[in-house]
Amino acid sequence: MDWGMKNRLSKVISPKTGKTVMLAVDHGYFQGPTTGLKTPKESLAPLLPFADSLFVTRGILRNCIDASTNIPIFLRVSGGPSVLGELSNEDITTSMKEALRLNAVGVGLSIFVGAKNEDRTISNLGRLVNEAEEYGIPVLAITAVGKEMERDARYLGLACRIAAEMGAHMVKTYYCKEDFKKVVDGCPVPIVIAGGKKIPERDALQMARNAIDDGAVGVDMGRNIFQSESPVGMIQAVRAIVHENKSVDEAFKIFNELKTKN
Ligand code: 5RP
Repeated sequence: MDWGMKNRLSKVISPKTGKTVMLAVDHGYFQGPTTGLKTPKESLAPLLPFADSLFVTRGILRNCIDASTNIPIFLRVSGGPSVLGELSNEDITTSMKEALRLNAVGVGLSIFVGAKNEDRTISNLGRLVNEAEEYGIPVLAITAVGKEMERDARYLGLACRIAAEMGAHMVKTYYCKEDFKKVVDGCPVPIVIAGGKKIPERDALQMARNAIDDGAVGVDMGRNIFQSESPVGMIQAVRAIVHENKSVDEAFKIFNELKTKN
């Protein structure tokens, strides 16, 4: 790996703990004004000090994030369909030049394995990696799961491995209760988990704990943080698991204390 690539990755995955808490706030790129992110500027400001990087589109970055921020930016560069259309119908929407202009530490796009346009989205990934390698920019591949897909280790393992084979430097996928370790073991690049739909805080912390125990390097979590009763409490509780190796009970205590305080 070249110096630039290594340097950018070290801004996302802590060299001290080998782990990362990425805050995913890109949901509006196909969902519009998502609950918890209706006014992104206000929702995000208190969370930024606790995230290792922000996974965001260029539109929200330019309009809602202060340019003096120190938080590393991972830029969502794919899109196309809205929630009303065929979700796998994605292309690359943001250029590498734009990513550099925005001082991004990395770029991310979705692949839709098993969906109508799987071949196109996997080719998108290959093309993005070709361009990103030219500039030393890490690529995060997101294994989007269509409604018709089973979120089991077999499917997730297939999607993660394809992403790594195409050259992704990191992969974001969903956690599955059974055999998630097999998904991690089959993927030769670091895996972070998405949180998925909002679930009770303790359950989300348990999911993060399990994923870390199975070998994930962290989370790229959105709704289970910004839709929480206490987003600031939740992101710090997640950090405690990811970076401090705390138990679920300890992390949940941190969440409850911060919820009361705030
Ligand atoms: C949407 C995404 C989101 O970034 C990802 O789903 C993470 O957010 P959440 O924790 O809310 O699932 O890539 O396609």
